[in-house]
Amino acid sequence: MSRFKVNFIFSVLFVVFGVALGFLGNGDKFRRKVTVELNPGLKPPSSLPPGVALVHARGLGLNDTLHFVLCNLGAPALLLVHTNSTESAVQVTWPAFINRSSPGSLRVAPESSVTYSSALVFTRIWEYDDVNNTADPQETAESSFYSPYELQNFIWSDLNTTANQSDHVITLCGRENTESFANGSLCLRLSVFESAGRDRAWPSLLHNSNSSQLHVWLDGLTPRGNLSRFALEFQSVGDSGFQGRVDVRSSIDDEYTPSIFKVFDWVSLPLNSSSVWGFSQWKPVAYRKPEPVFEDATPCRHSPLVPVSRIPQSAAVRAYFTHEPQVRGLNISFGVDKDPVHYSDTRHISWTVLMGMGDPPADSFSTLIIIIMAVGLGTPLAIIIVGGVFVCVRKRMTRASVYEPIN
Ligand SMILES: *[C@@H]1O[C@H](CO)[C@@H](O)[C@H](O)[C@H]1NC(C)=O
Ligand SMILES: *[C@@H]1O[C@H](CO)[C@@H](O)[C@H](O)[C@H]1NC(C)=O
Ligand SMILES: *[C@@H]1O[C@H](CO)[C@@H](O)[C@H](O)[C@H]1NC(C)=O
Ligand SMILES: *[C@@H]1O[C@H](CO)[C@@H](O)[C@H](O)[C@H]1NC(C)=O
Ligand SMILES: *[C@@H]1O[C@H](CO)[C@@H](O)[C@H](O)[C@H]1NC(C)=O
Ligand SMILES: *[C@@H]1O[C@H](CO)[C@@H](O)[C@H](O)[C@H]1NC(C)=O
Ligand SMILES: *[C@@H]1O[C@H](CO)[C@@H](O)[C@H](O)[C@H]1NC(C)=O
Ligand SMILES: *[C@@H]1O[C@H](CO)[C@@H](O)[C@H](O)[C@H]1NC(C)=O
Ligand SMILES: *[C@@H]1O[C@H](CO)[C@@H](O)[C@H](O)[C@H]1NC(C)=O
Ligand SMILES: *[C@@H]1O[C@H](CO)[C@@H](O)[C@H](O)[C@H]1NC(C)=O
Ligand SMILES: *[C@@H]1O[C@H](CO)[C@@H](O)[C@H](O)[C@H]1NC(C)=O
Repeated sequence: MSRFKVNFIFSVLFVVFGVALGFLGNGDKFRRKVTVELNPGLKPPSSLPPGVALVHARGLGLNDTLHFVLCNLGAPALLLVHTNSTESAVQVTWPAFINRSSPGSLRVAPESSVTYSSALVFTRIWEYDDVNNTADPQETAESSFYSPYELQNFIWSDLNTTANQSDHVITLCGRENTESFANGSLCLRLSVFESAGRDRAWPSLLHNSNSSQLHVWLDGLTPRGNLSRFALEFQSVGDSGFQGRVDVRSSIDDEYTPSIFKVFDWVSLPLNSSSVWGFSQWKPVAYRKPEPVFEDATPCRHSPLVPVSRIPQSAAVRAYFTHEPQVRGLNISFGVDKDPVHYSDTRHISWTVLMGMGDPPADSFSTLIIIIMAVGLGTPLAIIIVGGVFVCVRKRMTRASVYEPIN
């Protein structure tokens, strides 16, 4: 009986440490070879407007390729195309792409190798006067909204590319030609990854080689009201036959993003299956300074997912999706109820989203938490074991002393 108990306790210990080691050792080793090219195949006389570019990042796997295309002709968009071939290529028919973004003027060939495509488009910046201090655009009267900034009308400054062995970073900054944007800009920074990891900068989202990250910030804009708050509208475009929903996951561990215990996954899955094919992932936090400290974090929230009837005014999306794609959108709004800090106080807000294929990356417990768990669970177990052994040994000894004379 006691023997059994001790064995049982040892098995439990074994399982606990096994699980802990499993958490520690679940490093995702999958790598892609990433190459970045600018405006593939663009030759005079075709030329893009100043500041406008099509950036193609190719992530080569063992027998597949993941293409990311970032383009700011029209509203800025990030297109993801996965193919089951290592030979697939992005082809642009430049005159047709530049003039009318004709359907089919941006392709990934051979078309038969394409397994999944999806795009994320940043369409508008909404500004509203938050007189009731709810920081909730949906609770705010329509009359409090200023006319939105349409990103398709922005003027862009030349893009900045830094490519590194491990990360490839492209930055785009644009502004509207208005007084409010005299000193302001909206910037997008795309990072494409060869392997799993996380940014040092908050929110330090976990990424893998099947995802890329967009960091968005709005800097130096003159707000139109003293109590102005902002919301960013973005849309997801995908093939028909897919459905979308926003899932929330909670964690007890906020080590990587202090005070944030939630992560949102806007997933895309086929209508007749429950396996996730693609995602956009973010944490409900924005930062009010370029180099934030803890106090500069502000929560953000998203509006419900809504179907959008028109394809967004983005050249890449209009040129790539030839068969009636599905478009859904939502707003990310910055700030919370009764938040005393408004945009005018720091004139900066930044937010980060990860886009990729397959299952969204999930934070595992950090080493610190595992140690805490191991100590927390291990100590009582050790006491039980030592106690068990002690009781066992004592029982044996008493038994021995009782039966020995008979023997
Ligand atoms: C891809 O490559 C891996 C390893 O080389 C192999 O195990 C897998 O079957 C391949 N998948 C396909 C679809 O060819
Ligand atoms: C593109 O537009 C220019 C001027 O608007 C025109 O000259 C040219 O023929 C057009 N090209 C195509 C391929 O439509
Ligand atoms: C690639 O995907 C296409 C379409 O899903 C499929 O018909 C084809 O057989 C696949 N090829 C390989 C090598 O897996
Ligand atoms: C402020 O709140 C009141 C009461 O809830 C509401 O009637 C009003 O429309 C709100 N004002 C704005 C600008 O949202
Ligand atoms: C481009 O990025 C580099 C490194 O981040 C920076 O030093 C440089 O000033 C940037 N150039 C422009 C035009 O923004
Ligand atoms: C390469 O990337 C790392 C991490 O982002 C950065 O610290 C380093 O400065 C980069 N090196 C170059 C040459 O850009
Ligand atoms: C932009 O910055 C300049 C110099 O700092 C300042 O003189 C000007 O008033 C600012 N414009 C706006 C609209 O804030
Ligand atoms: C990334 O994609 C490749 C190819 O589809 C797959 O083998 C790998 O497991 C994926 N990695 C993650 C972390 O999803
Ligand atoms: C903003 O606040 C200043 C001073 O507090 C005031 O003079 C100004 O009228 C306000 N502007 C608006 C648009 O409410
Ligand atoms: C359902 O799944 C099958 C095989 O996975 C596929 O051939 C079919 O097109 C799917 N139907 C819909 C409506 O997506
Ligand atoms: C974003 O918010 C604005 C203002 O409330 C609304 O008009 C718009 O429809 C919203 N967009 C989406 C995609 O929900």
